[in-house]
Amino acid sequence: MKTSAEKSVQHDTSICFLNGNYIPLKDAKVSVLDRGFIFADGIYEVIPAFAGKPFRLEQHLKRLHDNLTAIKINNPYSNKQWQVIFTNLISKNNYPDTDCSVYLQVTRGVAKRDHVFPDDSTATIFAMINPLLPANPDILARGLSVIIREDIRWQYCNIKSISLLGNIILKQEAAENNADEAILVRNGNVTEGAASNVFIVKNNVIKTPPKDKKLLPGITRDLIVEIANQQGLNCIEENITEDELLTADEVWLTSSTKEVAPVCFIEKKPVATGTPGQHWAKMYQLFQEYKDSLK
Ligand SMILES: Cc1ncc(COP(=O)(O)O)c(C=O)c1O
Repeated sequence: MKTSAEKSVQHDTSICFLNGNYIPLKDAKVSVLDRGFIFADGIYEVIPAFAGKPFRLEQHLKRLHDNLTAIKINNPYSNKQWQVIFTNLISKNNYPDTDCSVYLQVTRGVAKRDHVFPDDSTATIFAMINPLLPANPDILARGLSVIIREDIRWQYCNIKSISLLGNIILKQEAAENNADEAILVRNGNVTEGAASNVFIVKNNVIKTPPKDKKLLPGITRDLIVEIANQQGLNCIEENITEDELLTADEVWLTSSTKEVAPVCFIEKKPVATGTPGQHWAKMYQLFQEYKDSLK
């Protein structure tokens, strides 16, 4: 019997990229001995593309390269070649004028099951396109709800590993509590969300945790810091305690698919007045202006 996911994949008409070929997603097959399947031995990227143009591509490709280097997989393509692959995928899937996101995954490839890296495996390279819907205005007006959980994940959260079991368990807990996200705390400090980075605003100061191994260096996070600095806003990269999170004037989440979204409820209690704050509204507008400037 087929699961609903398998059924929807079967009906999917999209074209994906697998190891040098553009083929229907429903026909894409990978060996069960792929180390991605056996060990989650691989990394991934999610790159938004607005009106057909990959957004912050240079930054995404740098993170991809850093991640491949971190797990000792040779980067199979040059930046120019990656760009051609993404552009081809976008046009083959008819997204030249609308927004979509590119999901890219590179694993260490097929080998006899052994924990030690094989000498001679060839990386498996897979990319597909997903639609990217604009943020729902009702959700932006009402703000997101989050839970707080202990950060149970491993010690290399800077690597965008396809091993996301910790993240999905935490995100599932959020869903089961009717929340949109879980904000994670390690040793009393906020690290990030299960699939996003965290910002707070207190007394007009914007704050986000510094980049280290405890969190993913989000491309959207970096852009928000860049925009804030360009605008002369007071934005600092410093640890945020759980108490600071709970007493913040504003809390935001950032990611390539969420962009910058206001959090209005933490563990069902309102953040300040329980409505999106003025600094968020300003940053949201600046973010949209930045996107428009690239069109
Ligand atoms: C754990 C985690 N942190 C942060 C982010 C945000 O990163 P980016 O802005 O590059 O999408 C993500 C994105 O999925 C994530 O999974």
